[in-house]
Amino acid sequence: MEVFHYHKAIVNTNYKLWHDTNCEFYHDFMHYHNRVTGFNDAYFARKNESFEHGHIVVGTFEVNYDNYEGFESRAGLSFPHLPPNQWYMIDLFPGMNFNLRGSALRCDVVTPLGPDKVMIEFRGLGLKRDTPEERQTRINHHNSIWGPFGRNLHEDLIGVQGQGTTMRPGSEARRVLHGRQENQTIHDENGMRHYYAEWGKWMNRLPSNPEMPYAEPALAAE
Ligand SMILES: [Fe+2]
Repeated sequence: MEVFHYHKAIVNTNYKLWHDTNCEFYHDFMHYHNRVTGFNDAYFARKNESFEHGHIVVGTFEVNYDNYEGFESRAGLSFPHLPPNQWYMIDLFPGMNFNLRGSALRCDVVTPLGPDKVMIEFRGLGLKRDTPEERQTRINHHNSIWGPFGRNLHEDLIGVQGQGTTMRPGSEARRVLHGRQENQTIHDENGMRHYYAEWGKWMNRLPSNPEMPYAEPALAAE
C-alpha cells in the first residue's frame, strides 16, 4: 500500500475520546452522511467483536453511497479480495485505527500531548499498483468523507472537542449516562467497555470510578 494523504489535528480533549469515535457508533446520529447512506437493517446488524488486549473489530455492511446527494456508488474500486462498498474497522489499543471504506483506507494514530490535549495523525492509503485514474478516485473518495474539508471528520472533531470542554475543571458538566447493551450490535457500547477494561488494567484504575483501583469484577459488567 501507499500513503496518499496526511494531515493532523491537535485537539483539546483526552486521547481516549478520539478512540471512542472509532469504537462506538451511536454518534453516527451526528453524521448526516452516515444516516442517509446507512441506518438500514444491515447497518444495525453490524457487530462489535472484542479481542484480547483491548482490540476491537467493527463488523461491515454495504454502504449506500448513492443515497447521498451528489455521491455515487463506489462499487467500481475496492481492495483485493474485499467486496465493494463495505466499511471495515479495526481499533487497536490504545489509539490506532484502520478504517476501510470501499475504495480508501484511513489510518489514525493518536499521540497524547497531555490529559486534555491530543494529536491525531490521519493517513489515507491506496494500493501501490494503482493507475493514476484509480489513485485519483481513491483520493476523491477519501477526501470527500475524511479530508479536512470532507463530510464527516470535522463532525467527529467538534464532538470530541465539546466532550473535552465539558470535562475541564470549572466547566459545567453536561453528561448523558447510559450503558447500552444490545447483543454487541453496532450501537452497543461493548467495544468501549472492552477498551476501558484494558485501560483500567494498565492504569490500575476502575474505569467506572477512576479513584478506585482496578478490580477484576469490573469485567463482569461486559
Ligand atoms: Fe464519526
